[in-house]
Amino acid sequence: MQIYLPIRKKKCTFAVQFGFIMSVHTETKRMTTALIRQKKATGDKITMLTSYDYTLARLVDEAGVDMFLVGDSASNIVCGNGTTLPITVDEMIFLTRGVVRAAQHALVVIDMPFGSYQVSAEEGVRNAIKMVKESGADAVKLEGGEEILPAIRQMIAMGVPVCGHLGLTPQSVNQFGGYGLRAKEEAEAEKLIHDAQLLDQAGCFAIVLEKIPAALAEKVTKAVSCPTIGIGAGNKTDGQVLVLHDMLGLNLGFKPKFLRHFAELGGEVIAAVENYVAAVKDSSFPNETESY
Ligand code: KIV
Repeated sequence: MQIYLPIRKKKCTFAVQFGFIMSVHTETKRMTTALIRQKKATGDKITMLTSYDYTLARLVDEAGVDMFLVGDSASNIVCGNGTTLPITVDEMIFLTRGVVRAAQHALVVIDMPFGSYQVSAEEGVRNAIKMVKESGADAVKLEGGEEILPAIRQMIAMGVPVCGHLGLTPQSVNQFGGYGLRAKEEAEAEKLIHDAQLLDQAGCFAIVLEKIPAALAEKVTKAVSCPTIGIGAGNKTDGQVLVLHDMLGLNLGFKPKFLRHFAELGGEVIAAVENYVAAVKDSSFPNETESY
């Protein structure tokens, strides 16, 4: 099977060859939903991180992550809200544009915020098309199973790739009464497997599984043909996702069991700013070489 690989131009240079000036650009292979699907078959683990701005997204893309998630966790991480509920479609679009500009390699998934797809399938499809059209994202992500299946089916039929999200779905925090582990009991676990199969059959290219027992995540992963991307769901899923600011240690005081700090940038930022403040106050910044 041949897979069409979209490309983004990285650099434009000019070369002279045989007396002709030729336009040359280095091209980076873009990740596609088809390639993400293929990774499940080959057993190549999928990497996904959230991103909400151009500058950090450039670094994340350079480091070689497969997928960006412009998560509605931006409501907490970027805006300082206590939940994901307040963020709007237009705010998500604004943030995603910067990430799309940075993405040379990684696929960009935009989270559909609370209220943008729950009322009706028609409204969901309208918002999904608007979000992809105005942000440049490659795909959307929605939280939920059977309840939102009509919306998901229509989005996929209209050409919008969809990533599902089951388990702890933070947009339902008021219903759940907190952010605890989901699907510990058999009934909820069975519904989750059923929902995952429905999302898979509807054509979702991947499903995020958040904060569920590792054994259940493994069961779901075996029960569906599309890749599963875990967060707090053990290491038997087809890939992993983390909130970038959490894994970089920028979100001070937030350290749930499933989270690993791959850096401690929070402390480094504070130390750098303390050094700056001290250097300005004692007039050692700027020095002669830093002045015109
Ligand atoms: O919004 C988000 O960051 C997410 C991840 C936690 C999966 O949905």
